[in-house]
Amino acid sequence: MKELSIIDTLKKVNEEVTLYGWVDTKRDHKKIVFLDIRDRSGILQIVGGERFKELSSEDVVKITGVIKKRPEKLVNKNIPTGTIEMDGKSFEIINKAETLPLPIDSDGYNIDEDIRQKYRYLDLRRKRMTQNLVWRSQTTMFIRNFLVDRGFVEIETPILTKTTPEGARDFLVPSRMQKGKFYALPQSPQQYKQLLMVAGFEKYFQIARCFRDEDPRADRAYGEFTQLDLEMSFVTQNDILELTEKLFTDLVKKIFPKKKIKQSPWPRISHKKAIEKYNSDKPDLRENKKDPDELAFAWIIDFPLFNKQTEDDFYHGSGKSKFAPSHHMFTAPHPDDIELLEKDPLKVRGLQHDMVLNGFEVGGGSIRIHDPKIQQKVFELIGFNDEQKKQFGHMLEAFTFGVPPHGGIAPGIDRLLMAILGEPSVREVMAFPTVASGKTAVMDAPSPATPEQLKELGIMIEES
Ligand code: AMO
Repeated sequence: MKELSIIDTLKKVNEEVTLYGWVDTKRDHKKIVFLDIRDRSGILQIVGGERFKELSSEDVVKITGVIKKRPEKLVNKNIPTGTIEMDGKSFEIINKAETLPLPIDSDGYNIDEDIRQKYRYLDLRRKRMTQNLVWRSQTTMFIRNFLVDRGFVEIETPILTKTTPEGARDFLVPSRMQKGKFYALPQSPQQYKQLLMVAGFEKYFQIARCFRDEDPRADRAYGEFTQLDLEMSFVTQNDILELTEKLFTDLVKKIFPKKKIKQSPWPRISHKKAIEKYNSDKPDLRENKKDPDELAFAWIIDFPLFNKQTEDDFYHGSGKSKFAPSHHMFTAPHPDDIELLEKDPLKVRGLQHDMVLNGFEVGGGSIRIHDPKIQQKVFELIGFNDEQKKQFGHMLEAFTFGVPPHGGIAPGIDRLLMAILGEPSVREVMAFPTVASGKTAVMDAPSPATPEQLKELGIMIEES
């Protein structure tokens, strides 16, 4: 392990130290060279003799020298180590670097996305990207501590599983042991977290990876993304909103102190009012949309339980049904509207809540159905045939063995950070995202399987 990080050199004035890192920049003068050496903690200026000219940008080096105070007029106020520099004595090139295929000293927004993802490990050397990932780590750590302090248990749920629809296409994984059958990757841990409530955990969370095959957009990652998935038993919708609001209010104060939350408590707006007043179910309530530090959170509640089903709706049942769930098929109807399930399903309100930030839907959740009869009714209204109902038979069965009333929410970590930081896309807060064409960063997946692999899986590829 390194003994000393660059930032620690502030405490080493007039001492000889050895530093490890990358050559950040180099400025040649006649007899001397000015170098900046960089590590995770910062950069430091090195003044070296002619021999140091051998070093070039992005070389990995070990440099030994004496830390000196800079004369007053040479202090650089823009960097934390701007009051000092190193008088370089000797160096060793640990690894020589080729010229990088993309610049990393800019914010990077104007560089071609394919190049940035192909060389993502270089793109992440960019200060903005490094900082975004540090914030991301601090965010998930804060969430874990906050919830564990309040009695939540973090539980991992399977990735190889059965369909858990959230309105997108599934990713399928062929089974070798049972040829011709497939696992589906979860679009969310929705069913597992409800089963964990049946199991009696009462308070569950997971920083969960979700998989959805849907067209990417700026605020929608292709393939996979991360949710803070949480679920609680014996709660009201208000309990869920209050807990989530406290979590993210405290988180912003601690990790993003420059950001200002526009209104606390967050406004709660009915879906109907949001559409009437803002013509949107995720209104941007910022006073000044140009102010990068303003965060306007809001709750949207009282959504209709169903929308009219459209031709390409995922939830195609038998084809006879007219209704698709507005959130998902486990969301409970408003208790005052149960009778309308028979009479006028489109009038039924659902106990759904969306968390909105600066015009983005950053989280969604609901109180769930825990009455198997109502769940059956919802399946019917969606138009599920017996085969489709059977796919969720395990939920109906579980609900016959003592299920507590329960509900939860799932804020999207990527989208939330994008909105907090004012980044133009979720990819700016993900380490190795997938590009629009579906190609993964660096690794260039998807790629063909070998004939042997396909044979083992019993799969034949149709030539197109
Ligand atoms: P929902 O489908 O609304 O709810 O998703 C919740 C949140 O996940 C984030 N999100 C995404 N982020 C990036 N890329 C995507 N492709 C993407 N899709 C969704 C959003 C969204 O608000 N199981 C329910 C939650 C629940 O009912 O508790 C669910 O997944 O921030």
